[in-house]
Amino acid sequence: MSLFRKKDLAAMLAQAEDGGKGLKRTLGAGNLIALGVGAIIGAGLFVRTAAAAGQAAGPAVTLSFIVAAVGCAFAGLCYAEFAAMIPISGSAYAYSYVTMGETVAWIIGWALIMEYALGAATVSIAWSEYLNKLLGGGIPYEWSHSPFESITDTAGVLHHGIMNAPALIILLLLTLLLIKGTQESAIVNAIIVFIKVAIVIIFIIIGWQFIRPENHTPYLIPANQPPVLDGAGKVVADYSGAFKHGWGGVLGGAAIVFFAFIGFDAVSTAAQEAKNPKRDMPIGILGSLVVCTILYILFGHVLTGVAPWTDFVDPLKGREASVAYAISTYMTGYGWLATAVTVAILAGFSSVILVMLMGQSRVFYSMANDGLLPKVFSDLHPKYRTPYKSNWILFVFVGAFAAFVPGSVAGDLTSFGTLFAFVLVSAGVWILRVKSPGMERPFKTPLVPLVPILGAVICLAMIFALDAQTLKVAFAWMALGLIVYFAYSRKHSKLNEGA
Ligand code: ALA
Repeated sequence: MSLFRKKDLAAMLAQAEDGGKGLKRTLGAGNLIALGVGAIIGAGLFVRTAAAAGQAAGPAVTLSFIVAAVGCAFAGLCYAEFAAMIPISGSAYAYSYVTMGETVAWIIGWALIMEYALGAATVSIAWSEYLNKLLGGGIPYEWSHSPFESITDTAGVLHHGIMNAPALIILLLLTLLLIKGTQESAIVNAIIVFIKVAIVIIFIIIGWQFIRPENHTPYLIPANQPPVLDGAGKVVADYSGAFKHGWGGVLGGAAIVFFAFIGFDAVSTAAQEAKNPKRDMPIGILGSLVVCTILYILFGHVLTGVAPWTDFVDPLKGREASVAYAISTYMTGYGWLATAVTVAILAGFSSVILVMLMGQSRVFYSMANDGLLPKVFSDLHPKYRTPYKSNWILFVFVGAFAAFVPGSVAGDLTSFGTLFAFVLVSAGVWILRVKSPGMERPFKTPLVPLVPILGAVICLAMIFALDAQTLKVAFAWMALGLIVYFAYSRKHSKLNEGA
């Protein structure tokens, strides 16, 4: 049996329809854009914008957003071609099954677990932090941190984390919602998207009046920028590195804010639930990317105009909860906005988690339908027709990470999984154009092979910009995936029946 055995596209599309017994087609173009924005705007915008400005890009974080968006747009155009042509659950996993064969498909499916499952875990950990902030630090340290974290309080007492209970609770609530139904989840998601987009726009409009031009001058961090010191005189940020000032800093900033764009591809996982996927998939994917890019650039412009960007690395100033800090420190009379932003952030994080969990269960659904995972992952609820058993298993897996692993570890692995999938999807579009040029393509990626090549190259460059430790863990995870494939999945694949 070949390592490159492939699934037949026509058979795959027929299986997706499944005589009306499969997932329900309930989502329109508006729902899909909301789904995308729901997955995109989250910890990346509200936490990493300030981090990128303070550590590498300064006010030019707006340009960092443009660089990251260009990389995502190339990949997004490729996703759009596939999602319109192969409108079934499973996203990048499904596309590679017909283009590059089962082994590559499995590898992508395994990488997507890093993107969606660990992405959900990462954001649920951030949710827990902000809830604690809203409650004035009322949740005991032990019950809101992983066992790998500890802190010495002002009285000199050492506290060790036991488990992150709020992260588990938000995951449980959202799992219950997902089981109830895609349409219901879409409605809740749409409400949350409205709230978070509204608060971003309000911040931009009100904050605009507080922009001080001197905060934007110079626009790029100068090469001779002195380091930022904390109260004890310790260096907390140094700008001498190549990716820490000037145009290099803009690139360094792009790698940091890349996380803010993760999620537009989640739209493609819902292709099988779209009413008119051929038309609406490209609109959903590219539309949500455009909306977010515009909001991000304006948001970055205002944030760095309101507060000096050096504040965002200073632990005594705005290193944490940077947006709330900028408002309460520099926007006199708008204290209510700081609270509203925190509430909107909590809601916003919830929709990111929701779409990530949904995306992951749909990828599992496809893999189980293909026999590569046990059937339990594709069993649908008799009434709600959602993959409820898969949702529960996912809750246990994601919950374990959220409760017992620090957020930073999960966050970088999320970026790896996403970038890896982007590279293979970009390659896949080109491969399929060469191998099956006559196939019907409701949406065509422009300038093939230039766009797929640029998409793959930019994403590969960002992979290698990740730190060495992350790459080691990620490669270990991928090796584990290959063991599972050869020990279980390959033997149980539905392709064996056809052979
Ligand atoms: N883009 C998502 C976020 O920023 C993952 O939270």
